[in-house]
Amino acid sequence: MRLRRIDHVGYAVTDLDEAVEHHRRLYGAVVTHTETIERDGVREALLAVGESFLQLLEPIRDDSPVATFLRRHGPGVHHVGYGVADVTATLRDLRAEGIRVVDEVPRHGSRGCLVAFLHPKSTMGALIELVEDPSRPTDGIPGDARLRPRGLTPPLHRTLGTASRDADGG
Ligand code: CO
Repeated sequence: MRLRRIDHVGYAVTDLDEAVEHHRRLYGAVVTHTETIERDGVREALLAVGESFLQLLEPIRDDSPVATFLRRHGPGVHHVGYGVADVTATLRDLRAEGIRVVDEVPRHGSRGCLVAFLHPKSTMGALIELVEDPSRPTDGIPGDARLRPRGLTPPLHRTLGTASRDADGG
């Protein structure tokens, strides 16, 4: 499985302060991070929900992709961010499988993350952002191993055979 978690749901909004207040009123959500991403022409506010975020995006320029989205669709869900262990490898593999991408190579997103967008034409109509968050080292640990403390891998005989199961009682 390539995906580790839902990193965030991104909303296009026309007024960031109003959108933050809306989420505070409805859900008691509070802002955990704000940042202006010049390259994308947006100001963002992140509201933590468990280990995920709601990402509110307000354009700061008319040529921002979020500004274009707002003109076409009005405010609403803009994209979904999927947490991956290695965005470079995941993007490379998906491209090799013929998936259309928006970003040919990963680039820097907010929070110091490395990100890459996939094209909605290849992702059932949703704009998808792959997110590698260096502050979450557990993303690099696959599957069940995330639930165990590091260094405590199961003994080989437990994963390979049934014979030893009798020896230690099951
Ligand atoms: Co995003």
